[in-house]
Amino acid sequence: MSNQLSFEINGRKADLPLYTGSEGETAIDISKLRSQTGTITLDPGYVNTGACTSGITFLNGEEGILRYRGYPIEQLAENSSFLEVSYLLIHGELPNAEQLEDFEGNITRHTMLHEDLRHIYQAFPKGAHRLMGKMPTIAGWAFKKNIGQPFIYPDNNLSYCANFLSMMFQVPAVDYEPAEEFVKALNVLFILHADHEQNCSTSTVRLVGSSQANLFASIASGIAALWGPLHGGANQAVLEMLMRIHNDGGNIDKYVDMAKDKDSGFRLMGFGHRVYKNFDPRATIIKSACDRVLNLLGVDDPLLDLARRLEEVALSDEYFVERKLYPNVDFYSGIIYRAIGIPENMFTVMFALGRLPGWIAQWKEMHQDPKTKIARPRQIYNGETARDYVPIEKRVAG
Ligand code: ACO
Repeated sequence: MSNQLSFEINGRKADLPLYTGSEGETAIDISKLRSQTGTITLDPGYVNTGACTSGITFLNGEEGILRYRGYPIEQLAENSSFLEVSYLLIHGELPNAEQLEDFEGNITRHTMLHEDLRHIYQAFPKGAHRLMGKMPTIAGWAFKKNIGQPFIYPDNNLSYCANFLSMMFQVPAVDYEPAEEFVKALNVLFILHADHEQNCSTSTVRLVGSSQANLFASIASGIAALWGPLHGGANQAVLEMLMRIHNDGGNIDKYVDMAKDKDSGFRLMGFGHRVYKNFDPRATIIKSACDRVLNLLGVDDPLLDLARRLEEVALSDEYFVERKLYPNVDFYSGIIYRAIGIPENMFTVMFALGRLPGWIAQWKEMHQDPKTKIARPRQIYNGETARDYVPIEKRVAG
């Protein structure tokens, strides 16, 4: 295959290089298209536009493949810890024992918050919908503030996930040890959320970071992007939807019909994905983690039963089959969080905690790439062409 694409637009010739990625995927480099032909590309929502080259996550939505730095997500979820995966994402290789110990030690020693921050939490209005935090301690304290309990300090002897659960659920003077199953489930959930190439929040981190905004400002913007119900807010929306169906008598067919009716404005939350059009490999792993947690706890959650039935009905319905709409990572994650005791308004916080290493890795990769330029999309203007100003007394009511 030629490594150049040549064609003419309005009598002006374009010679565009073809780019092949390490997994054989091809792209046309259109960065010179406008200077050569005066033409831009139009791709609303960037559905067919590569915004960068990246060596962090490989995703093949048709075949349901997801790998971090080449390692299959299934293997990482089975064998690894969230901090080991974080190291892999940020530094590019799995750590050796010494590197991992160092990395874990550094993170463990930085879980304390400055005492002055306590005042911010004391003054923080209880009803404010800003429970997101970059760090487990911030998230744990936000939860404690919200429920009116004293803050629990981080415990360096606990693992990352156990420590987070302890700051969430420990009460002073009462012995508390997070259940091993919860720690394991949280570890898997964090790993599955750790990165997902150029999704909405990560693209936002890159877009903001491209102006050379620092890591903290860039990640704050990513958290804001994550908040919406079509992205990181989806697991909260899934649970709310399941409760709505449950409270309405559990009539699944009614809601499936509503989701198919465009005028209803209702969608089956947790179904569909921009890039996975076969299955979401993360959903498969989460579904079995969910079964394990609930079985081990002996929890009989009617919402889980509803979720299973809903999945079954939707997957055999022509509308969903035709559009390749499958449960995504967030369809079952809310049920696990609920079993652990995490409230719905913290689900996006959980996602943000998991996605943090991915955002850091993507921001770092972008800053290290000498080809990085400030992101500045163009547009195709489709409004009025030039016209003269009309004095107010001559204007006709429109
Ligand atoms: N329920 C009902 N119909 C749906 C759904 C759904 N959940 N998702 C997509 N469709 C339909 C659309 O109406 C459209 O139908 P049409 O072709 O007849 O017009 C078709 O399927 C394609 O949908 P698009 O919106 O074009 O797909 P897009 O790739 O833009 O959207 C998205 C993907 C946003 C995830 C969408 O499927 C959705 O809204 N899902 C529910 C929200 C959700 O679960 N988000 C979490 C995503 S995963 C994550 O962020 C971690």
